[in-house]
This record gives sequence, C-alpha cells and structure tokens, in this order.
Amino acid sequence: MIRILGIETSCDETAAAVVLDGRVVLSSIVASQIDLHAQYGGIFPEVASRAHIETIYPVIREAMEVAHLGWDDLDGVAVTCGPGLAGSLLVGVNVAKGLALGRGLPLVGINHLEAHLYATWLTEDADRVAFPLLGLIVSGGHTELVMMRGHGDYERLGATIDDAAGEAFDKVGRLLGLPYPGGPAIQESARRGNPDSFRFPRAWMDGGLNFSFSGLKTAVLRQVQELRPPLPIEDLAASFQAAVVEVLASKTARAAAETDASTVVLAGGVSANQALRQAVKAASDRPVLIPPIEYCTDNAAMIAACGYWRYQAGERAGWDLDIDPGQRLG
Ligand code: KG4
Ligand code: ZN
Repeated sequence: MIRILGIETSCDETAAAVVLDGRVVLSSIVASQIDLHAQYGGIFPEVASRAHIETIYPVIREAMEVAHLGWDDLDGVAVTCGPGLAGSLLVGVNVAKGLALGRGLPLVGINHLEAHLYATWLTEDADRVAFPLLGLIVSGGHTELVMMRGHGDYERLGATIDDAAGEAFDKVGRLLGLPYPGGPAIQESARRGNPDSFRFPRAWMDGGLNFSFSGLKTAVLRQVQELRPPLPIEDLAASFQAAVVEVLASKTARAAAETDASTVVLAGGVSANQALRQAVKAASDRPVLIPPIEYCTDNAAMIAACGYWRYQAGERAGWDLDIDPGQRLG
C-alpha cells in the first residue's frame, strides 16, 4: 500500500491531501483564498504567494492528522510544479522539498492539468476509466481537449487561443456585478434566467477543436452597455452560460466521435458547472465521467493520485526540481 502526500499551491487554493494507492482519499484539506481575493475582483499574485506561506504548514499538518498518519507512514511526496503562478508554485515546491529531504522521502513533480484528469481515479468511476480517454480540461487558466492514451501519454487536440473558459466566467461575472469567482455566481444567477433572452456568439473556429471566448466576453459587454438599468442580470448570465456550454459540449462530443476515445472525462474548476455537466453527457455518445465537485476545483487529492502513478512508474525528482509556470500537457 502506497501513501502519497499531495501538495497544491499553483493558484489561489492552498491544499494538502493523503491518498492511498492513487484511489482512496485519506484526507483532503483545501484552504481557499477566495475571500482574500474577492476584494480585488480577481487574483493578486503577490498576495496569493504570501497567503500560501502562511497557510501551507497548518494545511499539511491537518491533512496528516485527518489521515491519522505520522511522517514515517508516508511513501512519497507529490507537488504541483506548473502551470500556475510562479510565486505560488515556489511555495509548494520548496515546502515539498524540505519535507522530502527532512524525512528521506521520494519526491515527484506534478503537472496541474494532468492532475485534474486524475480526479476521476478518486471516485467509483475509476473502474470505468478506459483508454484512450478524451479529457476536456476547463479551469481558470486553461481550456484544453487532450487525448490520454495511457498514464503519462498525452496529445493536445485543441485549446483556447485567448481567454480560458473559467476566465470568461470570471470576467463576465465582474461586468455583471457578481461576486468573485464568476463561475459559481453566474451558475447561480443563470438558474433564474432565460438562456434564450440574448443570442450571444458561438466561436466555432472553422470547425476545428480550438476555442475562443474573448469575442463572447466583448459581446456581453456591448449588450450591457446598450441596455438601460436595471440590467436583466439573470437572463444575461443564463444566455452567456448557454453560449459557453454549447461550444464546450459540442466540440467535446465531436472530438470523441472523430477519435477512438473510449471514455470522456470532464475536469477542472469549470466542470463543476451543472449545465456543462448535463450538456456534455447529453452530447457524447461515449461514457462521460465527471468527478464530484470537490475534486473538480483545485485540490491536492488529485495531485497525490497523479503522484501515485508517477511514483509507480519509477519517477523521482531531484533536489533541483524547478517550477514550470507555463508547463503544457501534450
Ligand atoms: O481548476 P480551478 O479550481 O483553478 C484553476 O486551475 O484555474 O478553476 C477555477 C475556475 C474559476 O474560473 C471559476 O470561476 C471556475 O473554475 N468555476 C466555475 C464553477 N465553479 C468554478 N465555472 C462555471 N461554473 C461553476 N459552477
Ligand atoms: Zn486547476
């Protein structure tokens, strides 16, 4: 039995978790900085790194306590190296190095995007995962369609050429006057709105598998400028969400149909969106696996799960393990 401690500090969540054999979550602690960043309406990188420094030790200690483990019970430490905010990544990587060096534990560096896919292995769906797997990774910084042919084997099929899906939710949330982060706030507001009120553009990108969301964001802005107050926030939110969801779900379904994908996995913070979850399931002719919400948004259990496979593959990072803020997958 292999117990991996996962550490995640790539963005605005300080997280630590212990996972057994890449599947069983013994503990998963997430300290969100949302309240801290809400006053700025977005993430302030300098503030994020300092908050990680203050929070990382208590979070790791809690993860060990909840798992009822001592340091000697661990088999390895896995930490996010990229992509993400440089100052934030540095905090996690250096703490992980200190722990691994101090306790003589193996260390593995993890790609945050890859780890989002591994959230699936933390659920009962782990038994249904079949390669090749088509992953739609939608987060605050990324929107990617990735073909995973096996552990560690990735091919990027498409990505956004401008804003990420989550970024579009956050920016449109801000211009509608909704609280940060925009994603959950828009979802909530959209529940009471009519998605057909406004016909916002869908960027089909010549039928390819790339995405673009900046035109949609500008279209919402123009519409808001044209309307007289009070704004129909709920209808705007519902119509915007419908535009994002339609493009994501339809391109994912098409990518699955055009490839030999056996399963479709939805991952990343935006996959917490109920409308997106339903639409991807409805559009795809393959089994669609979506982790529970707590493992869709940033957490360290997915880092530990991914770390388990890396550890089993014999991967070991040295003391020169570096951060890679612009790291890609596939
Ligand atoms: O994966 P994640 O937690 O952090 C990054 O790696 O970026 O994703 C955060 C993003 C934010 O943009 C947030 O607005 C979005 O996920 N998000 C949502 C929902 N919950 C979080 N977007 C749409 N609907 C949601 N329910
Ligand atoms: Zn993420």
